[in-house]
Amino acid sequence: MTPASRLLIREETLDPSYLPPKLPHREPELTLLFRRYREALARGVPFHLLLTGGVGSGKTALVRRLAADLERAGRLGEFPAKATYINCWRRASDRTVMLDLLRSVGVSLPDRGYSLSEMLDVLEQGVRRSPAHHLVLLDEASALVKQGTKLVYLLSRAREVGLGSMSLVLVAAEDLLPFLDAPSRSSFGVTHRLALAPYDRDALVAILASRAELALRPGSFDREVLGQIARVAAPGGDARFALELLANAARAAEDAGADSLAAEHVRRAKGSILPTVSETQLEGLSTNQLGVLLAISRSLKRRGTSVPSQKLRASHAALLEELGGPKMSRTTFWRTLKELERDGLVTLDTGASGESSQVAMDELPASFLATLLEERLGRSRVRKA
Ligand SMILES: Nc1ncnc2c1ncn2[C@@H]1O[C@H](COP(=O)(O)OP(=O)(O)O)[C@@H](O)[C@H]1O
Ligand SMILES: [Mg+2]
Repeated sequence: MTPASRLLIREETLDPSYLPPKLPHREPELTLLFRRYREALARGVPFHLLLTGGVGSGKTALVRRLAADLERAGRLGEFPAKATYINCWRRASDRTVMLDLLRSVGVSLPDRGYSLSEMLDVLEQGVRRSPAHHLVLLDEASALVKQGTKLVYLLSRAREVGLGSMSLVLVAAEDLLPFLDAPSRSSFGVTHRLALAPYDRDALVAILASRAELALRPGSFDREVLGQIARVAAPGGDARFALELLANAARAAEDAGADSLAAEHVRRAKGSILPTVSETQLEGLSTNQLGVLLAISRSLKRRGTSVPSQKLRASHAALLEELGGPKMSRTTFWRTLKELERDGLVTLDTGASGESSQVAMDELPASFLATLLEERLGRSRVRKA
């Protein structure tokens, strides 16, 4: 590989485990939570939080950022903050979570023979030795809570049972309140709950830009291509998927020896992560649909993340002439585009008032789709003849 084709200069910063220094579009939440924790902890009062949101809405990034910022803030009241992050997905039992907690206060117990209350006693001793505002982040806590955990109850009552200042952060995709016992539920009142909305397209563009600046060589990507990735990821509002697409597209660009990220690399990445277009689906398309899709593919294969509908209509007309087919009315052309949109093959973006729509196809490389369609159209013409 020539040095010029290196795009991913810090690939590890696109990894889901990397915690970015800034979280665009989550700053208001971060500021709010930071303030609430500071105020409570400075008064010596623990603060519990239930954070919910869909996949890739930034829950894990937000709580880890919050914990790191609180730890960095130094003393809050009497003590500094000390956070322990535990992903409960694979360790969905009170005992295994407890062992992790013990390890965080410097005690390592063998995983056998101890009851939960014995472990709590050991935790108490550990906490006494290193007094701090303990922040316990229980990520992916659904299974743990649904199994009827006692830990949430015990830890949220930490002060009463002599465990000192211990704040709980429960993170899950769904609301866990219905699965908690009544006393625990009361620890998660209205101001102790936060639900993250899915990211919209603008937010995804900002997130992609902030991460591309860390991971990719300067000048190797532009706003337009990040906008294309955001468009693909927007229906799920999922930043993780958006970043995975960015990483895969950058790898595709490197593999192709390109010196910058182009729309075709994004389509290649999309097609390989989530293939949505199958030959069978093309099989089901009408000749009109195949023709319009071919015109789109040919336009996009030359360049760009989308093509203005006016321009597309002109190149489609030229294509019909080339294929020797009848002309298509404006109405039929639009109906066909709408059908392709409904089938998830193209995206139509209506710009600001009066502007013509932008037509995009992000599902697979346009050059590849064009070849498939040419074959198919060729065959159907032969059949007709
Ligand atoms: N606001 C943001 N700014 C930058 N990166 C973000 C932001 N939100 C999420 N990410 C990144 O997106 C990916 C998924 O986020 P994550 O916090 O793991 O989502 P969740 O835990 O809700 O599934 C991670 O790589 C994370 O760093
Ligand atoms: Mg997560």
